[in-house]
Amino acid sequence: MTERVARLAAWLADARAAVVFTGAGVSTESGIPDFRSPGGVWDRFDASAMTWPNFIGSVEGRRRYWELGHVTYPVIRAARPNAAHRAVAELHRLGRLHACITQNIDDLHQRAGLPPERVIELHGNAARTRCLGCGAGFTRDEVHAWLDAGAGVPACPGCGGIVKPHTVLFGEAMPPLAMARAERAAREADLLVVVGSSLVVYPAAYIPRHAREAGARLAIVNLTPTPLDGCADLVIRGKAGDVLPAVLAKVRAWATR
Ligand code: APR
Repeated sequence: MTERVARLAAWLADARAAVVFTGAGVSTESGIPDFRSPGGVWDRFDASAMTWPNFIGSVEGRRRYWELGHVTYPVIRAARPNAAHRAVAELHRLGRLHACITQNIDDLHQRAGLPPERVIELHGNAARTRCLGCGAGFTRDEVHAWLDAGAGVPACPGCGGIVKPHTVLFGEAMPPLAMARAERAAREADLLVVVGSSLVVYPAAYIPRHAREAGARLAIVNLTPTPLDGCADLVIRGKAGDVLPAVLAKVRAWATR
């Protein structure tokens, strides 16, 4: 592991445009379960409650969605950035990171100090909601106050419209601007580092492939094998909260020589 950590640090120290691509595995050490590890979200909750057709199709579908969100969002809300999030933010402060593309909706990269304009959220952000009717915006905390007060299906106070979090549901169109920014960042990168993703959900999982096809080095830091390990230039099997701080320490040593 040590040699691999040193190699990744050297690549980050020399990179012209490094990009980090994160998944739920970067937030498990903050207490947020990932989706596909044993005991993860899809072992405990019905993924069909999280689809666009279910949500938009019926009041009952939205009630099931908000029943699930009422339980899961407080875990995200209470979470704090961990050493991996802080290491990613520090790499940017050291001028060693161009952008962080994330599949996560937990806002932890921003809360760790990464400037919001450097975080590309492919699946949105759970902290914000909007009315699909009139576009009015509400914080997730406002909506949960309505849920706590007994509203089974939150409706817009202004127009009665459907209120939906800024997160991408299965079957929902991906945010075009975020996808375009992510694809551009990946194609312009000379190093892309995947951290904590199973790389099985598309179109997000195309992003590391775009970087590789455009000639970037591909490194993967993940607890378990991924479908892209075979085409990666470096795979580090370990916990993000251990590996990234170790990499950062070596990059910092280079930066202060
Ligand atoms: N350090 C490193 N890797 C970890 C850690 C950790 N501390 N904890 C978990 N992992 C790894 C797991 O082994 C797994 O391979 O992170 C990966 C997480 O994979 P998933 O749970 O599939 O999460 P992700 O890849 O982000 O899923 C993509 O699927 O359900 C949708 O919208 C959801 O954005 C999500 C998307």
